[in-house]
Amino acid sequence: METETLRPLAAREFAEIRTLARRAFGLDLKPGKEELVAARLRRLASSAGCRSYQEFYRRVLEDATGEALAAMIDALATNHTAFLREPDHFDFLRHTAIQALGPRRDLEVWSAACSTGEEVWTLAFVLNDAVPSRRIRITGTDISRKALAVAERAAYTAERCAGLPAAWLSRYFAREDGAGQAYRIRPEIRAQAAFFRQNLVEPFALRRRFPLIFCRNAMIYFDAETQQRVAASLAAALEPGGYLFVGHAESLTRCSLSLEYVRPAVYRKPLKREGGWSRSS
Ligand SMILES: C[S@@+](CC[C@H](N)C(=O)[O-])C[C@H]1O[C@@H](n2cnc3c(N)ncnc32)[C@H](O)[C@@H]1O
Repeated sequence: METETLRPLAAREFAEIRTLARRAFGLDLKPGKEELVAARLRRLASSAGCRSYQEFYRRVLEDATGEALAAMIDALATNHTAFLREPDHFDFLRHTAIQALGPRRDLEVWSAACSTGEEVWTLAFVLNDAVPSRRIRITGTDISRKALAVAERAAYTAERCAGLPAAWLSRYFAREDGAGQAYRIRPEIRAQAAFFRQNLVEPFALRRRFPLIFCRNAMIYFDAETQQRVAASLAAALEPGGYLFVGHAESLTRCSLSLEYVRPAVYRKPLKREGGWSRSS
């Protein structure tokens, strides 16, 4: 078997991989995560014919294409997500945030660690229900190319769609025959979203500002200093009066930001008025 030739992960190897993961994508692999790291990288290292994690680590560093690092990131990152995850965010969006943003023709959202797309499509369903006459644009980004490919294809099994309101299933999905995927997002909804690779610890390629940013359940894996830096960049990417949604297990209270706390896991950038910044209601 492939795995029999791979030597167990040594403490020094864990330390090297830990440093690389932190530098390359902010992931904070705390001591105690050795088994998890070994398990997640085992298949990758073995199938590359490596005899040790040290050899695997060296190959990642030597690969000028960046593919080996991308594969390592894919293996280490947690992509868990679901439709309608943390549903009170979507209630708040629908009943409060949209109104507070005022009348506008375009409504733009950035889902900044969108994984396999369920967050993007949930946003699309909520916005199309709430403001069908607006032009809805959703940008989904993630560090994982694999996850982005699933998001872009937008086809999901019946199991993943279980629990979605029947009205959403009939309005926003089409049945897929064969191929194991039961439902695919309808083309007119897919056309409202665009997906790009963006590593949150690197400068943002998106230069414009957004009225709504969802960045949920990614920063929780970052160390405190990286969280602070990424949260500050996200705050800068918000337009005045715009809202930032983070995961409920994440808190920005320790980050010194220019944002107001609105409710658990929701922050707002103060509205800019002549003569300086004013508090938004
Ligand atoms: C647990 S999922 C969260 C998905 C979704 N936002 C949600 O709350 O259900 C975390 C996602 O963050 C992505 N991620 C991790 N580190 C990242 C980084 N440095 N830049 C961009 N995305 C990252 C992972 O690839 C993964 O898809």
